[in-house]
Amino acid sequence: MDFVGSHILSVDQFERGDIDRLFDVADGLAPFAQRERITRVLQGAILSNMFFEPSTRTRVSFGSAFNLLGGDVRETTEVKASALAKGESLHDTARVLSGYSDVIVMRHPEEGSVAEFATASRVPVINAGDGANEHPSQALLDLYTVRRELAARGQGIDGLRIAVVGDLRYGRAVHSLLKLLALFDQVSVHLVSPPGLEAPEDVIAVLEDGGHAVKVYHDLGEGIHHVDILYVTRTQEERFTSPEEADRYRGLFRVNQAIYTENCEPNTVIMHPLPRDSRAQAQELDDDLNANPNLAIFRQTDNGVVVRMALFAMVLDVVDQVNDHARSVTWYTAKRTPPPN
Ligand code: ASP
Ligand code: CP
Repeated sequence: MDFVGSHILSVDQFERGDIDRLFDVADGLAPFAQRERITRVLQGAILSNMFFEPSTRTRVSFGSAFNLLGGDVRETTEVKASALAKGESLHDTARVLSGYSDVIVMRHPEEGSVAEFATASRVPVINAGDGANEHPSQALLDLYTVRRELAARGQGIDGLRIAVVGDLRYGRAVHSLLKLLALFDQVSVHLVSPPGLEAPEDVIAVLEDGGHAVKVYHDLGEGIHHVDILYVTRTQEERFTSPEEADRYRGLFRVNQAIYTENCEPNTVIMHPLPRDSRAQAQELDDDLNANPNLAIFRQTDNGVVVRMALFAMVLDVVDQVNDHARSVTWYTAKRTPPPN
């Protein structure tokens, strides 16, 4: 695909070569994300960062990524703080905001809402999560993390064995990640969820049509055997029609050090898109894993910045100009790599 000027709405847009190009750009931007170098290549550009659902890392890392490239960020959080609360349509909101911005990032609770918004936008729109549908930039940073973690073990993504655990029905990060994995060769996927929270059939079909091995499990221990990556997800309680329904699933699949030691290979990498639900009744990824060097969750969040910088650089067509606008950092900078667990 041609990234320049494009909306980024779904991972369906990407071919494998696009991913390779994006990751090469991300690698090149690492010194800027790590505060070794500073660039002002997007000086004067404005990002509208529109989050109509809760977010910590996607919102802040998109904003930081834009700032690190020299651009300015305007934010709206929550529907009630925007004119959507007065009945304004996504169409009109998009017409207005695209007059104020060079690029828009948007998260919204309804499936398809970001795509609808993009049809009326005059500037590129990036989907930061639309309901239970997709979360493409999360999948890109997840895949970038998988690539880096496996490279450190001398492996590539082809032939990957991965277990994806938790709410696979409503987990939009999982939907996007599984579809991205289908672009690679001979991936083996364990889909591990409580009955009722299985991955959507259309997502499984993308993997199966690509010739990948997909197995469905309802038992946590069985499902996480013999994998390179253990990817845990949260019960998406905000998607259930009643709180009681979410209560039925919460805490059913808890990964902790004992379960890991008993079932996983010694160097299985643990990932999670975060937030992990650490409340007593959930404990889906226990704190006792914090000392496990294979816990990659905060390396994963760090990677979100550089991957989102790469998206902006490619969509706004400044990849070749980044270094022309660069200099060394002169303030005190804490050592950022490797990040602690
Ligand atoms: N933060 C991710 C999302 O917004 C995953 C989650 O919330 O569980 O999709
Ligand atoms: N992974 C993720 O999307 O996190 P936030 O919901 O905090 O943005």
